[in-house]
Amino acid sequence: RDEPLVLGIETSCDETGVGIVRGHTLLANTIASSVEQHARFGGVVPEVASRAHLEAMTPTIERALDQAGLRFTDVDAIAVTAGPGLAGALLVGVAAAKAYSLGLGVPLYGVNHLAAHVAVDQLEHGALPKPCIAMLVSGGHSSLLLVPDVAREVIPLGSTVDDAAGEAFDKVARVLGLPFPGGPHIDRVAGDGSGTAIAFPRGKYDDGTLDFSFSGLKTAVARWVEARQRSGESIHVPDVAASFQEAVVDVLTRKALRACEEHGVRDLLIGGGVAANSRLRALAQERCDAAGVRLRVPRPGLCTDNGAMVAALGSDLVAAGVAPSLLDIPADSSLPI
Ligand code: KG4
Ligand code: ZN
Repeated sequence: RDEPLVLGIETSCDETGVGIVRGHTLLANTIASSVEQHARFGGVVPEVASRAHLEAMTPTIERALDQAGLRFTDVDAIAVTAGPGLAGALLVGVAAAKAYSLGLGVPLYGVNHLAAHVAVDQLEHGALPKPCIAMLVSGGHSSLLLVPDVAREVIPLGSTVDDAAGEAFDKVARVLGLPFPGGPHIDRVAGDGSGTAIAFPRGKYDDGTLDFSFSGLKTAVARWVEARQRSGESIHVPDVAASFQEAVVDVLTRKALRACEEHGVRDLLIGGGVAANSRLRALAQERCDAAGVRLRVPRPGLCTDNGAMVAALGSDLVAAGVAPSLLDIPADSSLPI
């Protein structure tokens, strides 16, 4: 009971998330998503997301306190995603967090969204091994990180030079006539297809870096489909989905294990929305087993954007004795790790 109660707020993209933790114990995790409002645009519309955050902020905080059976006055610290993300969306969460911090007289911690994706795993699997390698794959980011200590030091090793992995899933899904967000649909449809049916390109596979590139793959799939549509040939959607998915997860797992090898690290964490992908989970497990690397993947609800991840990192910052943020912290859309 000695550990402080931390309330975390996440608004970097289209989910308004609020989490409450004590230490690494998750007490509440509530979410309001505007994903359905973006579906007809085929991607997140920043202005729509900001407005939805504004409407959802207070009710989502109240639901979290209800879920945990707590009152505002029980909260010892507030953590909020300060970046990276959509500027207007971040601003709503940061403004709310400042107001609650000031009103309650408790410290405020502005946290990095990517580091929070790493910290959240501790709510499920306990304290992180130090160091570990983290691979974050979502609609907004594809990053490899060396994590000596998530509260104090996170070192970027590589990231995508063009599209994020989830973005590629969403764009290819659109080409195949599947709904947005497309990742889960490709995952499902691919179950009836073969990952070796079509040889799609694997960008930056053996280039000696820990960076990713998915835009060439996305274009290759679109061209392949268009060529067949033009000639009136029918396509087997499950084979296209499975072959595309195989190309993505092959590159992701290869680079993740290369990062472990280059840095002599034996623990790999995979997070972000794409970590929900069944083929990614299976191939990562297979390659980790072969390399003697332990794999940690949080359950899907903790992989996608949520408030618990922000609270988890906030809790680590308090425990590490890191100084709180000042009340004038900005929302920084391109906050570096
Ligand atoms: O982390 P997240 O909820 O939001 C951010 O983008 O930050 O990730 C959403 C992304 C979307 O691109 C979605 O298509 C993808 O994660 N995704 C998946 C799966 N579930 C979600 N991609 C592949 N397979 C899945 N099962
Ligand atoms: Zn995210």
